[in-house]
Amino acid sequence: MNVTLQVNGKSYTRDVEPRTLLVHFLREDLALTGTHVGCDTSQCGACTVHLNGDAVKSCTVLAVQAEGMEVTTIEGIGTVGDLHPLQTGFWEEHGLQCGFCTPGMIMAAAELLKHDANPSEEAIRHHLEGNFCRCTGYHNIVKAVQHAAGAMQGKQAPGQAADD
Ligand code: FES
Ligand code: FES
Repeated sequence: MNVTLQVNGKSYTRDVEPRTLLVHFLREDLALTGTHVGCDTSQCGACTVHLNGDAVKSCTVLAVQAEGMEVTTIEGIGTVGDLHPLQTGFWEEHGLQCGFCTPGMIMAAAELLKHDANPSEEAIRHHLEGNFCRCTGYHNIVKAVQHAAGAMQGKQAPGQAADD
């Protein structure tokens, strides 16, 4: 059956099987392989994307359930020349080792920062509970999110960036 989704601002229509998971649609039909599959129990969060602005585990959603919706993946959040503050934060604070969990972490953290511009360490840890990292011990991931929160607040602070 045909499904049409907006992915990273672009409309895609594909013929899919009704059982196709959103994560497989993204990776296999659209070749957006930044969204990872890290488990088969919906626990790891490596597959996290935004669906109409909310973070979801894309292994728990059928592609056809997302018909007409807007999907944002890690490929749509920043570019090499214009990184999202979270991407910069993970880079600056060494928030990754193998990087497998990182796209999902960033998508989950981006949702948090939309609702809480200055989250506490506890709030960050709580929000990322559904995202597993098998390498870092989480400490630098929390620092990366704090780094991004600070940068985003700095950007938005009144009286700043008067030269642009
Ligand atoms: Fe979706 Fe692990 S692949 S939660
Ligand atoms: Fe390796 Fe998180 S950096 S799983």
